[in-house]
Amino acid sequence: MTDRYGRRFPYLRLSIVPACNFRCTYCLPHGYRAAPGAAAPLSLPEVARLLRGFAALGMHKLRITGGEPSVRHDLTEVLRTAAAIPGVRKLAMTTNGTLLSRRLGEWTEAGLNAINVSVDSLDRASFARITGHDRLEDILAGIDMALAAGLPSVKLNAVLLRDVNDRELPAWLDYLRDHAVGLRFIELMQTGDNLAFFRDHHVRAETLETQLLEAGWEALPRAADAGPAREYRHADYAGRIGIIAPYSKDFCSGCNRLRVTATGDLRLCLFGEFGIPLRPFLQQDDQLDDLVRAIGGQLVHKERTHYLHQGRTGITPHLASTGG
Ligand code: 5AD
Ligand code: SF4
Repeated sequence: MTDRYGRRFPYLRLSIVPACNFRCTYCLPHGYRAAPGAAAPLSLPEVARLLRGFAALGMHKLRITGGEPSVRHDLTEVLRTAAAIPGVRKLAMTTNGTLLSRRLGEWTEAGLNAINVSVDSLDRASFARITGHDRLEDILAGIDMALAAGLPSVKLNAVLLRDVNDRELPAWLDYLRDHAVGLRFIELMQTGDNLAFFRDHHVRAETLETQLLEAGWEALPRAADAGPAREYRHADYAGRIGIIAPYSKDFCSGCNRLRVTATGDLRLCLFGEFGIPLRPFLQQDDQLDDLVRAIGGQLVHKERTHYLHQGRTGITPHLASTGG
C-alpha cells in the first residue's frame, strides 16, 4: 500500500464508538451528543472483516480509538477480535483512562500491548477544568499499573493550551524522571467546531522544544517509520518526550496511517474533505476481495498534506468523531 508520494500505510486507526464520557474543552465542550439518525458503530463481525481487509493490504499496527473506546461495552471482545487477525503485531488503544485501573488486566489479556492515555495536566484542578471530570488521581494510578504490568508501550498525550497548561513543563519533568512513559505534547488543532477556542488557545510547540534543548534534552534522529512525532530523550529521565506539531513544515511527509470511523468510513486524512463508506463491503466474509480493492483504489486520492494552515479543517467537527 503506497500512495502517490511514496508513503506507506502499515498503521490503521479505527474508531469503534463516537461517544465519549468526557467534555474536553477543545473537543466536546458540551459533552457528546449523538447526531439524530446516526448509524450504529460497526458490529464485531464488521470490525473483523474490516481488519482482515487491512491486514491483507499490509497493516501491522492497529490503534483502537473513539470517542472513548471504553464507552463500548464489548471493548474487550473488540480487542480480542483485533488481536486474532494475522499480521497485527502492535495493538494499541487511545483512551481517556477512566476505566484503565479497573480493566487493564482484562484488556491486556485480550491482546492489548500499547496504550496512549490523555493527560492534559498533572494538576488536579486544571485537569478537571479541561476534561470536566475530577479523575486525575485514578487515571495516574491506572498508568502506574500499566507500567508495573510491563505493558510494552505506555504513552501520555497532553494537548498544549495557551494560558491553560502551557507552563507545566517543570511538573512534567518531575514526573518523567521516574516514569518510563512517552509523553506527547500535541499542538491544538483547529476542527470544524472549535474555531473560537483554537484562536484563544493555540500555541506553537517550538517554544517548548527550545526549553527542552536548553535543559539538555536531545532530539532523536527520526526513524524512517516514525510517524509525525519529533522525539527527545535525556539520560537523567526514564521517560521520553515527543512533540506533535501539525502546523510545522513537513508534518505530513511522515504520514503512515489511515483512519476508519466508527461507522466504517475510510478517512485518508484526519482533515480530509470526504469519507469513503466501507460498510457495504463488510456484510459478508466473501467480500474480502472487493473490500481490499475499494481501500487500495482510494489511496491515489490521498493528498500530500492537510490544509490546516488555510483554516481548512475538512469534514471533522471534532476529533471525537474521527478518533484523533
Ligand atoms: N487538537 C489536538 N489534539 C486533540 N485531541 C482531541 N482533539 C484535539 C485537538 N483539537 C487529542 C486528545 C487525545 C487524542 C485522542 O487526541 O487529547 O489525546
Ligand atoms: Fe473525549 Fe478524547 Fe474528546 Fe476528551 S479529547 S472529550 S477524552 S474524545
